[in-house]
Amino acid sequence: MLQGKKTFLRPLEPDDIPIYHKWYNDQNVNYWANAAWPLSTMLSEEDIEERFFTPNKDCGRYIILNEEQEPIGTIGYREVNIPARSAVLFIIIGERDYWSRGYGTDALKVLINYLFYQWNFHRLSLDLWDGNLRALKAYEKLGFKVEGRLREARFVLGEYHDAILMGLLRDEYVQHHPPHPPETV
Ligand SMILES: CC(C)(COP(=O)(O)OP(=O)(O)OC[C@H]1O[C@@H](n2cnc3c(N)ncnc32)[C@H](O)[C@@H]1OP(=O)(O)O)[C@@H](O)C(=O)NCCC(=O)NCCS
Repeated sequence: MLQGKKTFLRPLEPDDIPIYHKWYNDQNVNYWANAAWPLSTMLSEEDIEERFFTPNKDCGRYIILNEEQEPIGTIGYREVNIPARSAVLFIIIGERDYWSRGYGTDALKVLINYLFYQWNFHRLSLDLWDGNLRALKAYEKLGFKVEGRLREARFVLGEYHDAILMGLLRDEYVQHHPPHPPETV
C-alpha cells in the first residue's frame, strides 16, 4: 500500500467490482472523466470485470482510499513505453463528495512519486477534454504542462471539444517534490 497525506493507494481486488460498477455507471462522473470512446456508462458487472479486472502488464490500476481507508476512486497508468520510460496516467474520484478537496492531487502525487522514484519513469502524460477545468487545475498544480490540443477530438453532450494533452518530465518534478521515505502509520 502506498501512502500520501490524505490518500492511500492499494491494488484492485475482485471485491472492488461492485464499486467500480457504481463509479463507471455514474453519468456525472463519466461526463467529466471520459468524453472519449469507448463509453463506459451502462456497463454490467461482467463488462467491468472483463475490461478492468483482467491482468494486463502494460497497465497498473489501483484503488484510492481516504483517511478512513474507504474507497473513493481509482487511478493508474497505461501505455507503458519501456525504451522511452513513459506512461499515460488516468484518475477518477468516483465519490463526488470528494471532488475539489485535494484528494485527486494527493493520489496523483503518490502515484507520480512511485513511478518516478521507484520505477524510474522519465515522462508521464495524461489528457482531458477542454471543459474539465477542475482536472486541468489539479494537473497544473503538480507541474503538468499543456503540450498540445487535439482539435474537436471529443464529443460531449452534442458538441465537439478539444482534447488537451499534458506532460510531466521527471527532472521538472523532482525540483519541487524531492523523494522522501514513506511515513510510518
Ligand atoms: C479531476 C479530479 C481527479 C481532480 O481531483 P480533485 O480532488 O477534485 O482535485 P483537487 O481538489 O486536488 O484540485 C482541483 C482544483 O481545481 C479547482 N477547481 C474546481 N472546480 C473548478 C472550476 N470549475 N474551474 C477552475 N478550477 C476549479 C479547485 O478549487 C482545486 O484548486 P485549489 O486546490 O487551488 O483550490 C477529480 O475531480 C475527478 O476525478 N473528477 C471526476 C472525473 C475526472 O474528471 N477525471 C479526470 C479525467 S481527465
